[in-house]
Amino acid sequence: MKARKPLVAGNWKMNGDIVSNEHLFTALRASLERASLPQVEVAVCPPYPYLGQAAAWLGDTGIAWGAQDVSAFGNGAYTGDVSAAMLVDLGCRWSIVGHSERRQLAGETDDQVAAKVSMCVAHGIGVIACLGETLEEREAGTTETVLGRQVDAIAASLVGAAQPLPAERIVLAYEPVWAIGTGRTASPETAQAAHRFVRERLVARGLHDAAAVRIVYGGSVKAGNAASLFAMPDVDGGLIGGASLVADDFLEICRAAAVA
Ligand code: PGA
Repeated sequence: MKARKPLVAGNWKMNGDIVSNEHLFTALRASLERASLPQVEVAVCPPYPYLGQAAAWLGDTGIAWGAQDVSAFGNGAYTGDVSAAMLVDLGCRWSIVGHSERRQLAGETDDQVAAKVSMCVAHGIGVIACLGETLEEREAGTTETVLGRQVDAIAASLVGAAQPLPAERIVLAYEPVWAIGTGRTASPETAQAAHRFVRERLVARGLHDAAAVRIVYGGSVKAGNAASLFAMPDVDGGLIGGASLVADDFLEICRAAAVA
């Protein structure tokens, strides 16, 4: 068994409604209770309006819930934003930060991602900070430059904090942009090389407990490829998009993490 407890987190993205969520919550509760997988930490991240529904359906289970984003600001005049304090109020254990869809579609910069990480740290919310290179960057041979820059911004917020998050609440998600929602997955070796690079960079930037930080992989993880990815020494679980919307598929991925 790995020293780090694997995390499998479902990123529902902008999907779902009250009725279909209820079906999914019910199925997840039932199947994960039956499967009993204490070796794995499981979380789901529905859209903001459904976090209260997640609390109601998952509150008495071992399944955590989280948000897909958090404001870089504290409470105040920020129309449309949702603060870290509000996420704490709702019982969120996690927040995804810096997903490539936000970097690309909302133009989020490394500095904004860093500010969001700082907000999570200040409020004690577990952070799932995403990073990854585009296909053009990989083909241009700049993957490590890009990942290094992204890790540095995240690490600065983690290391400089007055009250740092414990290592088990810090997760980095390596999500190569070319693998997200495309059906194209990084090979286990490619993922491992990136994860190893990220971990070493965290150490180099002063995160002394980087060996205890989980680095999860995201990008077209499916029931069929999860086991070989999770078998890699620095792949500590997954951030799952499409497959997290199908209870049976998500369960299979959790099982794969349990045996890794
Ligand atoms: P995917 O998404 O599993 O649908 O590729 C992963 C993610 O974007 O977090």
